[in-house]
Amino acid sequence: MSYNSACIIGGGACGLATLRALIKEGGFDRLVGFEQRDSFGGIWNHNELADQVLEIPSIDPSTIVNPVTTKDGFVWPNAVYDDLQTNTPYPLMELNGHSFPEGTPLFPHRTVVLDYISKYGEDLKSYYRFETRVVDVQKGSKSWIVRSRKVCAETEGGVKESTEFPDTIEEFDAVLVAIGVYDLPFIPALSGLNEWNKLKPNTIVHSKTYRHPRNIAHIDGNILVIGNSASGIDICYQYARFTGKNIYKSARSPSKVPGGTSELVIDLPDIDFLDPESESVVFVDGSRLENVKLIIFATGYLRSLPFFKLINATNKPLITSGARIHGLYKHCWSYEYPGLAFIAISRYVLPFHAAEIQGSWLAKILRQKLSLPSYEQMQEEEKQLLRLRGDTPAFHDLTFPDDVEYTGALLRDIKSCIGYENGLVPKEWTERELSLRKNTKLLKKVCLDHFEKTGENLTIADVEKLSIL
Ligand SMILES: Cc1cc2nc3c(=O)[nH]c(=O)nc-3n(C[C@H](O)[C@H](O)[C@H](O)COP(=O)(O)OP(=O)(O)OC[C@H]3O[C@@H](n4cnc5c(N)ncnc54)[C@H](O)[C@@H]3O)c2cc1C
Ligand SMILES: NC(=O)c1ccc[n+]([C@@H]2O[C@H](COP(=O)([O-])OP(=O)(O)OC[C@H]3O[C@@H](n4cnc5c(N)ncnc54)[C@H](OP(=O)(O)O)[C@@H]3O)[C@@H](O)[C@H]2O)c1
Repeated sequence: MSYNSACIIGGGACGLATLRALIKEGGFDRLVGFEQRDSFGGIWNHNELADQVLEIPSIDPSTIVNPVTTKDGFVWPNAVYDDLQTNTPYPLMELNGHSFPEGTPLFPHRTVVLDYISKYGEDLKSYYRFETRVVDVQKGSKSWIVRSRKVCAETEGGVKESTEFPDTIEEFDAVLVAIGVYDLPFIPALSGLNEWNKLKPNTIVHSKTYRHPRNIAHIDGNILVIGNSASGIDICYQYARFTGKNIYKSARSPSKVPGGTSELVIDLPDIDFLDPESESVVFVDGSRLENVKLIIFATGYLRSLPFFKLINATNKPLITSGARIHGLYKHCWSYEYPGLAFIAISRYVLPFHAAEIQGSWLAKILRQKLSLPSYEQMQEEEKQLLRLRGDTPAFHDLTFPDDVEYTGALLRDIKSCIGYENGLVPKEWTERELSLRKNTKLLKKVCLDHFEKTGENLTIADVEKLSIL
């Protein structure tokens, strides 16, 4: 099959890296990007607003996250909060040929990342249709049929069809989905949750709505954060530092990510049930936390592909429970639906870096410079992983060193193509980057401790003097 046209859905860092790879590969006669926001940067576009509707529990991956209407237009709330710094050293986020500015703190503020992505996308703007939301993607007999809608007052932010701004329907040989994986909150249906929500409305939130500890500092009583990954850890750390008060965190497994620690953060076990009558939460070891006034679910997100409604209703859906995307080879290429691919869907990976490599790998597949294994082989590889990881959110996880192995395998494929240097050659990690990746937890701790003591951020030059790397 020859893929001459492609669209990229999403103008975050990963969509942009993918588009650049296709452009550099050359040979496509039409490349189009769709972005529902009015600018690049995806999740790094911080704003004060929270989602208008939060399902409790939130377990249905077909839920559509709509924008919030403001007097200035439409805003897409996201999880990026006020004082967010990266939890990954910036050299690991760099795309080939595009450096962060000299002297950037090793774990930069969110604004630095947004600036980086915006600059990276400067020469790609003409390919993108901004304020354009993809609302439906279907498999046609020969190509993909993509329906997009203007995000404007007449369509209520891309939610409804309008006669003044009718939907656009186009065909593409390939559809590359780079919409991010942190948009639809996951709130598990814990025992007692529904009753709690009825009896104590507005005391259950998701970490996606967190912006600053000052917004919850006034709460007179205990705050319980559920989840022991980046969001749970950082919310507790920020709250403890800001208020000097205790905060409680329920952790069902050890954390895999770096983050600040404080004696004020009290770790508790996994939850057994919520007891709204007594305002308490009971844990699996029988212990109990009383006087609970706010529960923050930092329990991650559902994988959601609402614009594949028809495919999801077939016997070969892409999404079922929202834990993973089905039928993918190398967490990326849909072997069930050739021409369809998903970018940077793994947790714990460095998404920009992974996207650049996946984009370049996909470009070679689409231009038929790389061939794929047989359908049966790709299916078997997925089955093997399923046996190992189960049908869980951990299915796509790529923690260190699995991520290095994974990107290394794709890079080897890329480099096996004659003349690969003429396409986008993704940034390859040297020993220094590998050491940054390996030591990220320790480096983050050192930088946070230094900041606590001095109010200053460490740069790569500073940490290089500390003999950690
Ligand atoms: C709180 C938080 C902190 C993080 N911190 C780090 C960090 O420190 N370091 C790091 O490397 N990563 C971090 N991440 C991971 C983060 O997801 C990536 O950095 C990066 O944003 C991934 O880029 P993306 O392009 O895949 O997705 P996104 O940034 O989510 O961009 C996806 C884009 O797709 C658009 N889109 C979605 N649906 C449609 C549609 N139907 N039609 C048109 N456009 C659509 C969205 O508007 C959005 O602009 C963090 C994530 C969160 C939630
Ligand atoms: N730059 C930063 O400092 C920063 C800050 C916040 C977020 N982030 C990024 O944002 C992304 C999302 O992170 P996240 O922490 O929101 O989500 P996440 O990484 O998916 O973690 C979800 C957490 O919830 C727990 N959990 C899930 N279901 C549960 C259940 N039914 N009961 C109890 N616990 C449950 C998980 O435990 P298990 O592991 O046992 O499943 C895990 O601890 C990541 O890429 C992260 O790095 C970065």
